[in-house]
Amino acid sequence: MNNNTIDRYAVAGNPVAHSRSPDIHARFAAQTGQALVYERLLCPLDAFKDSLRAFEAAGGRGCSVTVPFKFEAHALAAHLSERARLAGAVNTLRFDAQGWFGDNTDGAGLLRDIEINAHCRLAGKRVLLLGAGGASAGVLGSLIKARPATITIANRSLGKAEALIATHQAYALEHGVTLAAARLDDCGQTYDVLINATSTSLAGAGVPVAATVLAPGALALDLMYGPAAAPFLSWAREHGAEPRDGLGMLVEQAAEAFEIWRGVRPDSASVLADLRLQLDAS
Ligand code: ATR
Repeated sequence: MNNNTIDRYAVAGNPVAHSRSPDIHARFAAQTGQALVYERLLCPLDAFKDSLRAFEAAGGRGCSVTVPFKFEAHALAAHLSERARLAGAVNTLRFDAQGWFGDNTDGAGLLRDIEINAHCRLAGKRVLLLGAGGASAGVLGSLIKARPATITIANRSLGKAEALIATHQAYALEHGVTLAAARLDDCGQTYDVLINATSTSLAGAGVPVAATVLAPGALALDLMYGPAAAPFLSWAREHGAEPRDGLGMLVEQAAEAFEIWRGVRPDSASVLADLRLQLDAS
């Protein structure tokens, strides 16, 4: 089989050079015996759609979508999953004959990492979600689905937290979850689970809340991984919380995407363990 006949997938974004997705999907493919290749597709900022069309014409069957195209992918999809519609963003496209299907696996990936890998059930818990940008929008619906007692969204600009709540309020009511907006310097109480979905770790800007938000033994998770997440993880450890980076979410959202494309669920745990070893050794 050569690259003209084998099913092709890719991570589409700008930049994509450092993406670990090709490695993750190659492992999933080998594990499940699926014949496919998974590449990097660097899309010019003004030519996302054209890049995808060309990729599809050359044997592309779908792609992962990363920064900064998740909103554009949402607009381009002919069909959307309920969770992608709620998030207003798409991280997984499948090129179906009847039109592109857009889904968002970020929230399910995060939830699986928290509940299965980190053994932390969210039901009844108090959750503090930092940030109200694209990353928070991608995961809020799945957090609600897990039925914590409350989710407080703290953001530098309060208006954006309130806007995010407005789009999720009906869904939260359906699930019996209370949503609240807060300022970063006034989060009110302590929380069982803290999720940093701001871009502060990436920017090296430090942890944007005081350690007083952490209940003893709280799970403190940053969506980043690698060196960018290190200051947050040290901070969490120093203040008696259970630190966790975003590597598990990365692998789990990929596993979910793989299943959407191929109809087969890969074993994410073994891939996460391998990547963890690789990351720790680097
Ligand atoms: P992403 O797609 O990664 O979520 P984004 O949509 O640009 O990126 O959102 C970045 C988030 O990080 C926002 O919540 C932003 O806060 P504002 O909405 O107030 O801009 C937050 N953020 C970025 N830099 C920050 C900083 N130095 N302190 C606190 N929050 C910050």
